[in-house]
Amino acid sequence: MSTPFDDLRAEVELLLRARYPILALSTFEEERALRLLREAAAPLGREVLAWSCTEGFRGDGARPPGDASTPRQALEWVARSDGRSVFALLDFHPFFGEPAVARQLRDLARDLVRSYKTLVLVSPVLDLPREVEKDVTVLDLPLPSPEELDGILTRLLQSLQRTGRVRVDADPALRERVVRATCGLTAAEAENVYKKAIVHNSNFGEGDLPLIVAEKKQLIRRGDLLEYVELGDDLGALGGLDALKGWLRSRAVAFSEDARAYGLPQPRGLLLLGVQGCGKSLTAKAIAAQWNMPLLRLDVGAVFGSYVGQSEGNLRRAVRIAESMAPAVLWLDEIEKGFAGAAGAASADSGTTARVFASFLTWLQEKRQPVFVVATANDVRALPAELLRKGRFDEIFFVDLPAEEERREILGIHLRRRRRDPATFDLPLLASRSEGFSGAEIEQAVVDALYRAFPEGRREPTTADVLAALAETVPLSRTMAEPIAALRTWAAHRARDASGRRPPSPAPAG
Ligand SMILES: Nc1ncnc2c1ncn2[C@@H]1O[C@H](COP(=O)(O)OP(=O)(O)OP(=O)(O)O)[C@@H](O)[C@H]1O
Ligand SMILES: [Mg+2]
Repeated sequence: MSTPFDDLRAEVELLLRARYPILALSTFEEERALRLLREAAAPLGREVLAWSCTEGFRGDGARPPGDASTPRQALEWVARSDGRSVFALLDFHPFFGEPAVARQLRDLARDLVRSYKTLVLVSPVLDLPREVEKDVTVLDLPLPSPEELDGILTRLLQSLQRTGRVRVDADPALRERVVRATCGLTAAEAENVYKKAIVHNSNFGEGDLPLIVAEKKQLIRRGDLLEYVELGDDLGALGGLDALKGWLRSRAVAFSEDARAYGLPQPRGLLLLGVQGCGKSLTAKAIAAQWNMPLLRLDVGAVFGSYVGQSEGNLRRAVRIAESMAPAVLWLDEIEKGFAGAAGAASADSGTTARVFASFLTWLQEKRQPVFVVATANDVRALPAELLRKGRFDEIFFVDLPAEEERREILGIHLRRRRRDPATFDLPLLASRSEGFSGAEIEQAVVDALYRAFPEGRREPTTADVLAALAETVPLSRTMAEPIAALRTWAAHRARDASGRRPPSPAPAG
C-alpha cells in the first residue's frame, strides 16, 4: 500500500515533469521534505539544491560563484543558472515582504515555465505574497505514516541494542501501540519522544505508553489550536437524544474495510445545533469514546491568527495532524465563533475568514482519510449557509431541551454519577417539575441537592432536596425564551431532531 508520502512524491514528480514553476511545501520537517524532493527529482535526472539564508546553497549540483546568501542573490542565481536543478529555498517566507523579492519571484515564475528549473519553497509558514499566489502550487507534506514511525522506532531500538543500552521488548503488538500513540507527531518529534521514553526506562515496554501519550498531548497543544482530549464516558453518559445515538451506533461500523468493500461511504461528520447545556459538547466527546478513536479539539477562534495567511496555515496544520491520527474525531466546538461572517467579511479582514472557510469546506467534502468531524453551534444565524448544504456533513441534528422522559434519564445518569441510587428518588415527579430545564441545569440541581444534604449531618439527599433546587433555578429556557423559540423554528425545516420526537424533515436547498 502506498503511504501519503509516496503519493506526494509521485505528485511532485508529475509537477516537475509538467514544468510547474514554483511549488510550496508546507512542513516543519526540512529533512523529510528534501528527501521527498530528491526522490521525486531522481527519476528525471535532476538534482536538488537547498538554500538557506545562513548557508546559501548546498547540494551536489553546480553552485553559484561566490556568495548567494541574500534572498535576492539566491533568486538571481536561480534565474541565471542553466542547469536543470530543483531549487529548494528553506524558510524563505520572512523575505516575501520585500517588494523587490516579491517582484523577482513573479518574474521567475514566468521564466521558469520555459525552463527545466523548479523553485520549491519549503517552510512551515506559507504566507505567500498576493502577486505570486496564482503561480505557486501549494502542497502539504503529510506527517509520517505509522509505517514510517515504525521504521524510526525500529532503527532507534536497534542502534541502542547494539550499544547494549536497552533491552528491547520485541513484542510487535506493543510496538504497534507505541507507533499509534505517536501518530500526529513529526518524525523528529516522534524520535524525541521515543528517546525520552527509553532514557526514562531502559527496559522499554508497556509501562512507557502513558509517558508517550502525555508527551504527545504536550506537543500537540504547543500549537495552541489543537487539544488532544482524553477519552471519557461513551454514549451511555448521554441521556435522551435517541435518534442521534441510534444514528451514531449505526455509523460505528462504517469505518471498517469491510464497509468500504460493501460500498458504504466513509462517514464525514455531524453538525450539532442547539440550545446551550443540552449535551452537544458531551456528545462530541462521547462519540470518540464510543468508537475508541482519538479526539482532537480544534479551537476555531485560534485558527484565525492575527496575520493574514497564518490562518490558512493553522487550519492546514490542524487538518494534517488529524489526518495522520485517523481514524480520529475532529471536534470543532462552537464553530460559529470562528466562521461567523465568513460570507461578508471581505472588508474586515481582507477576506481571510472567507478563504479559510472555503478551504475548510473543500477539505470537508473531499477528505479521504477517516476523520469524523463533529461541529457544534448555538447561534445558527451566524453560520454561513454553505456550511448547511447537503454533502458537507452527513447529518445536521438539532439538540433541543430534553423532553420529560429524557429528563428522567438525565436525572438518573447524574444521580448515579454521584453514587446515588435513582430508584430511591421520585424520578417521574422530578422530571415533570423540571420542564424547560437543560441537561446542564438538571445536573446542577442534583449537585445542589447534595450541597443541601451534606451540612445536615451528611444525610442522604432526597427527592425534596432536588425539588427545592429546581424550584430555585430560573432555567435558561425562561430567560432566553425568544432566541430558543427562534432556533426551534429555524431548525424545524433544516435539521433532524436529535431526540427523534419530530419526524425528520427534508433539508432545503441552500
Ligand atoms: N443529554 C444529557 N445527558 C446527560 N448529561 C447532560 C445532557 N445534556 C447536558 N448534560 C450535562 O450538562 C453538561 C454540559 O453539557 P454540554 O457541555 O454538552 O452542553 P452544550 O450543548 O455543549 O452547551 P453549550 O452550547 O453551552 O456549549 C454536560 O457535561 C453534562 O454533564
Ligand atoms: Mg458546548
